[in-house]
Amino acid sequence: MLNPIKLASKNFLSSLDTSNEEFFHILEIAKNFKNKDLNIKFKNKVLGLIFDKSSTRTRVSFQVAMSRLGGTSVDLNPTTSQIGRGEPIRDTARVLSRYCDVLAIRTFKQSDLEEYAKWSSKPVINALTDLEHPCQALADFMTIKEEFIDFKNVVLTFIGDGNNVANSLILCGALLGVEVRIACPKGYEPNTIVVNKVKELCEGKNLIKIFNDPYEAISGSNVLYTDVWSSMGEENKSEKKDKDFIGFTLDSDLVRKANNDAIILHCLPAYRGKEITNDVFESNQSRIFEQAENRMHIQQALLYNLLS
Ligand code: CP
Ligand code: NVA
Repeated sequence: MLNPIKLASKNFLSSLDTSNEEFFHILEIAKNFKNKDLNIKFKNKVLGLIFDKSSTRTRVSFQVAMSRLGGTSVDLNPTTSQIGRGEPIRDTARVLSRYCDVLAIRTFKQSDLEEYAKWSSKPVINALTDLEHPCQALADFMTIKEEFIDFKNVVLTFIGDGNNVANSLILCGALLGVEVRIACPKGYEPNTIVVNKVKELCEGKNLIKIFNDPYEAISGSNVLYTDVWSSMGEENKSEKKDKDFIGFTLDSDLVRKANNDAIILHCLPAYRGKEITNDVFESNQSRIFEQAENRMHIQQALLYNLLS
């Protein structure tokens, strides 16, 4: 029986809210859930979901994960609750944390998520903000570990916008000692505070490398990752971004420049013909749907740890 560990942090707001050991423990528990070696039943535990942005995978995988743990979830649609009418976060958080045992929140500003966490008496999980997507990164590294067993020789190249998904990947890279390269057009580099944090954590090891040419970045890589060019909330920028990202499509020519054993990841939803071509998306190097499945196992493991 694999026991949960009490995470040092009450909340999971950032990829840095777990230590290296805690991260590996969550991966191990998730693997056990996936292999059906672990049967945990929580009675009467409730997960509250607040999604200020759309979601398929995160919403459903959290709901199914909670139900597999024997608990239930409440999907608090902001447009039909008082959240959409502007009730202050500090009030919503204090009320909801009296009803629910854990909250998973998808919103725009990281500072709003932190405000929920400050006023909630129960753990708060980042289900994506503009700054980070730490649950996604946990599932990504679970998928990478399934492929390569350990992270020793992994070089992950992310081709796309240096925002939430990229930020969480580079933070996890620093935590796990994995080289993460970001290939993005000029002006779309990851958040400077995140990059400086990574440099501080890497203590002189050059684990984060930023390129403006995907061909330069991809050589020697065995994990190729991409994400949408225009994220949720950026719909009005999509025309400009479609132009700025020309040359950053993950296509078969680019894939050929990577290692032969390279795998393809995408957090989804995907826009074929923009950030990825259909043949690369559907190729036998793709692990995109394993990655999507792993969201559920990882979140089950995360909830198991946070609720125990
Ligand atoms: N990858 C991801 O978070 O997908 P959803 O937006 O569908 O939740
Ligand atoms: N960067 C994307 C990720 C979607 C899961 C977005 O924020 O829309």
